[in-house]
Amino acid sequence: MSKNGMSTKTLTLLGIETSCDETAASVVRRHVDGNDTYHGEILSNIVRTQLKEHAAFGGVVPEIAARAHADTLTTIITAALADANITLDEIDGIGATAGPGLIGGLLVGMMTAKAIAAVKQCPFIAVNHLEGHALTVGLTHGQKPPYLLLLLSGGHTQQIWVQDVGNYTRIGGTIDDALGEAFDKTAKLLGLGYPGGPQVEQWAKGGDPDRFALPRPLKGNKEPNFSFSGLKTALRQQAQKKQPLSDQDIKDLCASFQQALIISVIDRLNLGIASVKNRFNPEPDFPIVVAGGVAANKALRIKLEQVSTTKGHPLVIPPFDLCTDNAAMIAWAAAEHLSTGHQDPLSTPPRSRWPLDERSAPILGSGKSGPKA
Ligand code: KG4
Ligand code: ZN
Repeated sequence: MSKNGMSTKTLTLLGIETSCDETAASVVRRHVDGNDTYHGEILSNIVRTQLKEHAAFGGVVPEIAARAHADTLTTIITAALADANITLDEIDGIGATAGPGLIGGLLVGMMTAKAIAAVKQCPFIAVNHLEGHALTVGLTHGQKPPYLLLLLSGGHTQQIWVQDVGNYTRIGGTIDDALGEAFDKTAKLLGLGYPGGPQVEQWAKGGDPDRFALPRPLKGNKEPNFSFSGLKTALRQQAQKKQPLSDQDIKDLCASFQQALIISVIDRLNLGIASVKNRFNPEPDFPIVVAGGVAANKALRIKLEQVSTTKGHPLVIPPFDLCTDNAAMIAWAAAEHLSTGHQDPLSTPPRSRWPLDERSAPILGSGKSGPKA
């Protein structure tokens, strides 16, 4: 241990992620290079998606998800250890997602992690899935806090000020649907398949974004929150008026919808940046970090890059496979905590709801969206 209580030792962590519809295991190393400098290394990163199991239902079915995790997790962990060319005896600790997420899946992952930790007598770390997303850029880019995190996934849409590892302030969040959920529901309505985000983006390419007039949710509202359900309803009404829809109608609807979502996200982000400056007095060029599956959307990325350039905030986005759900981010967050000497008792329960910022009051209207994180 160094003077500030941080471990100076290289730590090798096994991470397990089972909070939604990905069964994942990964081995990650946290190397300490010098005083307060470190870098991450991914030794293995195995993700088995359950997309096929859930596709027929147009969304994640909790019971099917839990069974699929139970059926496959041991094989996935064995594969992650084999890929990393490592045995459990060489692991310094095990991190498992303890929430937020579907309770059945969380139980499968946590019980497995606890059993290994008990048998191998090594530390167990209960990881918040959102913290995994929040800290990924430390693993991929060596990016340290403070930064503004824009988390855009199928279950969460939040702006979080990451002051330090373990110190998070929610700047804003969605009052209804998550951004990915809005893409998915609209794709379902237009008969485009699941997950909907990539489909909507693809169809939008050949469409006219100005053909359908859609609302700009919360525009002018001074809180940096998000709202997408009104937009989704407006799109449904426009689609109903045009029945039967031609391919061009679908393209134009997708382009108009995507444009409205992006305008709203950028408008809200600008407010979030102003709020951070006001509340935390940070360095003027603090970075903006984007995570979650919707970060794959190219049209959104172009607009985010414009904000980054015009406002002077470096934009940091993990590679796509580490933006979406994975266990490397869980192993890394666990390593960050273990490096400070933190570990959790084996009695730690899973939490289907677990806000990253427990100090801020819940956002009015939030909590209705799906369990995906
Ligand atoms: O982070 P993620 O893989 O899973 C969780 O929600 O935890 O995010 C999945 C979400 C889905 O809603 C999917 O439709 C959306 O990310 N997504 C996209 C794109 N690729 C994935 N949304 C818009 N454009 C995309 N290219
Ligand atoms: Zn997630």
